[in-house]
Amino acid sequence: MSVDVAAEINFQDQLVVDQNAAAALFMEARTANSWTAEEISDETLKAVYSLTRMGPTAMNIQPLRITWVRSAEARERLVSHMAQGNKGKTLTAPVVAILSYDTQWHEMLSTTAPHAASKASTFADNDALRHSMAEKNAHIQAGYFILAARAAGLAAGPMTGFDTAGVDAEFNADKQCKAFMVVNLGRPNGVIDRERLHRLDSDVATATV
Ligand SMILES: Cc1cc2nc3c(=O)[nH]c(=O)nc-3n(C[C@H](O)[C@H](O)[C@H](O)COP(=O)(O)O)c2cc1C
Repeated sequence: MSVDVAAEINFQDQLVVDQNAAAALFMEARTANSWTAEEISDETLKAVYSLTRMGPTAMNIQPLRITWVRSAEARERLVSHMAQGNKGKTLTAPVVAILSYDTQWHEMLSTTAPHAASKASTFADNDALRHSMAEKNAHIQAGYFILAARAAGLAAGPMTGFDTAGVDAEFNADKQCKAFMVVNLGRPNGVIDRERLHRLDSDVATATV
């Protein structure tokens, strides 16, 4: 690993999760481009969503929607919209998740945020605000999703290199959703095909005022 962890403070002493958890979620986990052939069960995918949904979103709006791509037919349709460099791994990953955001998340406010249900009509009337809240919060949820996958023993390969309009036409035509990320998932096979890229030091990326 090229990240100079030793140069940082001994952060392990500061954690409330054990070192194995920190390694599985952050320190040792890598973005994956290949996986073992093991099939990923529906139960494992449900566990991934069960963890993902617990991460916080603004007003608890939870705009993330997930389409699990399993069938060969659906896989072919998805791959046709992936960027050239993303086609091969999307074809071979044991399962693929299309992450979309619900543009009409306000319709569920009485369930997700009963205290704010009276604001639904305000959001209904403001497309720009509604879309920006959906996009922002779904991206936050995508981060939870990647870590949830790792917590369930999966290696994730997130990708934004694809034709979003094409994927929407194929998979979201009858939904009020917009695709923003595709994530390949499978069991880690131990193959590291590239060096870990540098992570910014805390004195570069953080400041105390
Ligand atoms: C939002 C997002 C979009 C990404 N898009 C692509 C992509 O289209 N194609 C690709 O090969 N990798 C893509 N990546 C992978 C990143 O390059 C990779 O996660 C990053 O370099 C960290 O790698 P590491 O986890 O092995 O340290 C994407 C990652 C994220 C989080």
